[in-house]
Formats: sequence, C-alpha cells, structure tokens
Amino acid sequence: MIKNDLFLKALKGETVDRPPVWMMRQAGRYLPEFRALREKYDFFTRCQTPELASEITVQPIRRFGMDAAILFSDILVIPQAMNIEVQMKPDFGPYLPSPIRDQKDLDAVAVPDVSEALGYVMDAIRMTKEKLEDTIPLIGFAGSPWTILCYCVQGQGSKSFDLARGFCFTQPKAAHELLQKITDTTIAYLKEKVKAGCNAIQVFDSWGGMLSPTDYQEFSLQYMKQITEALKEEAPVILFGKGCWFALGEMAKTGASALGVDWTCSPRNARYLSGGQITLQGNFDPSRLLSPPSEIKKRVHQMIDGFGKDNYIVNLGHGILPNIPLENAGAFIEAVKEYKAR
Ligand code: CP3
Repeated sequence: MIKNDLFLKALKGETVDRPPVWMMRQAGRYLPEFRALREKYDFFTRCQTPELASEITVQPIRRFGMDAAILFSDILVIPQAMNIEVQMKPDFGPYLPSPIRDQKDLDAVAVPDVSEALGYVMDAIRMTKEKLEDTIPLIGFAGSPWTILCYCVQGQGSKSFDLARGFCFTQPKAAHELLQKITDTTIAYLKEKVKAGCNAIQVFDSWGGMLSPTDYQEFSLQYMKQITEALKEEAPVILFGKGCWFALGEMAKTGASALGVDWTCSPRNARYLSGGQITLQGNFDPSRLLSPPSEIKKRVHQMIDGFGKDNYIVNLGHGILPNIPLENAGAFIEAVKEYKAR
C-alpha cells in the first residue's frame, strides 16, 4: 500500500480533497544537487548507474514533496538499446551519429531483449522503490514511437524535425517498419518497468504537434494506442502529446487513464475536446514559473478552478526549465497543497 495515493486516486477518477501534483522533468537541471552530480558523471553514466539514477529521482521529492516521483532516465535509452548509437553532448543535447535514413539503415535496427539491454533501468526502479518506502507512487516513462523516430531520423533535436517528416512521407513503408520496431520494444520495456515496481506509465509524445491531425493518426496515435492497449491492464497509462490538443478526443478513446495537456489549450477547451470525463494533467506554462511566487500561487489556484479539483493532476504543460528559481518551483507545489475548493 502506498501512503500518499492521491495521484493513483486521480488516475482512477476518484474524489480527492485536493488534486495531486508533480512536474515533468522534475529530476533535473534546476536543482543544485542535480548539477553537483552532473559535474562528476556524464549523462548516460547517471542513467545507467542505479545508485545515481535512484538518488536523482528522489532529490526533488526530498526538497519539495511532490505526490509522485518520476524515474530519472531518458526516452533515448530505447534507440540505444535497439542498436542505434546515441550520445548526449553537453550544451547541445542528443546526437545520433548514424541516423536512420533508408531501408538499409533500418535493417540494422534490432528489437532487443529488454531485460538484458535495459536491465539497469529495472535495477534503478527497484532501488528507487526502496528509497521511497511506499510513501508516493513511482512513474515510469517512454517516448512515443513517433517522438523516438524524430531523433532516430533527424539525428539531433530540431525545431521542425523536417527530415523525420520527410522520411515518413517519402518512405512510408520504412517509417512504419521503424515505428513498429520501436513500439514492440517500448511495450516490452514498459511491461518490465511495471514488473520492477513502477505504479503508472507516462508516454511522452513531445513532437506529436509537428504532425497534421491526419498524419498524427497514421504516424503517432495508432502506435500509442498499441502501447496503451498492451499496458492498461497492468498499470494506468498517461498520454502526453505536446501541441496535440486536436487529438484529445481520439486519445481519450485509447483506454488511457489520463491525458497530458500543454499550456496553449485552456482547461475548458481541454475538458470539451477530451469528452469531459477522463483525468487531465497539466498545463502551467513552464515559463510562468519565472513570475514571482505570489503570482504563481494565484495562477495555480485559477488553473485548478479551471480544470476542477477532481479528475485532474496538477503539472506543467511541458518540462521544467533549467533557469527556474528553487523558490518558484516550491511555490508551485505549495500552492496545490494549500488549495481549498471554492
Ligand atoms: O522527468 C524527470 O525528471 C525524469 C527525467 C527525464 C529526462 N529526460 C532527463 C534528462 C525525462 C522524463 C526525460 C524525457 C525526455 N528526454 C523527453 C520527453 C520529455 C520532454 O521534455 O519533451 C525528451 C524529448 C528527451 C530527449 C532529451 N534528453 C533532450 C532533448 C535532451 C537535451 C535537452 C534537455 O532538455 O535537456 C535530453 C537530456 C536530458 N534528459 C537532461 C535531463 C535531466 C539534461 C542533460 C543532462 O542532465 O546532462
């Protein structure tokens, strides 16, 4: 039994006194204790060493007391396990020196035995669960197949992922083969994560908003649907699509327990588009955490009033930024704990 089960209750649609709160990318660069470890260990060493990954996961919890922890890792451990080299370059971000551009590149992509290739993630989960001592739930995550394809084809971050979209539209057969390989690996990976102790799963479709609504169905949603269907009996699934407000209605029909919303969609519109029933998560503008703490608190309360306290998980509309003052991050969490329904 988990002592603070507000987050799991919200995922089930149960009534709560106040909504639960966590922040996407809460284990990260805005924390001095995280930056101290970053001085000593490179990115993938931090991911691959269970002592480090579990420590980084609990750092924000110790400081701010969120209602859920999210395992420190990265969405790009999946392509890495599939035989695609991924580097994390300081001040640049992900870099894949041999991107997938044609059928020949694709033939070298493997669907690995995840317990072997990603066993270190499972060890990190078990160690994190020990550290959390059943105080709060632990979220495991993966990138959506489309978002992973973006990096595999583009070879690095991008404002438009034009090469990734071009690959889908000029070589659709190869694109679907890659998406299916990623989907199969992701399903096996997430099932292992739940077995290792994760209490819920979030799928990040960070670049879903790059696709037109029609292409979104073909190149992203159908694969997220496969993942949700395969996982939903084992753990609640949250689907977060950045810029994907147009798909909230379809996403609500996948069997997911909750949908993430970014800050460009109003609470009212998100409720309307998702059909009014499903639990929603979001959607504070990450840059709004630069406002003074009193302003943050006021706007968080307005946001909760907008979504309603039930069927709702307070979060940002995307990951926390590295330049957010600690006091402001703290004000965001405190505002939720102080919330009283009006
Ligand atoms: O939420 C958490 O606190 C857990 C940690 C987490 C990381 N990456 C650690 C990380 C999570 C959930 C992710 C997911 C992730 N990774 C996404 C989806 C979420 C999103 O923000 O859209 C994406 C697109 C990536 C790919 C990625 N990893 C990029 C683009 C970068 C570089 C730019 C950036 O945002 O930092 C990374 C590196 C990365 N992943 C860092 C961290 C803390 C920073 C680098 C470092 O620590 O050295």
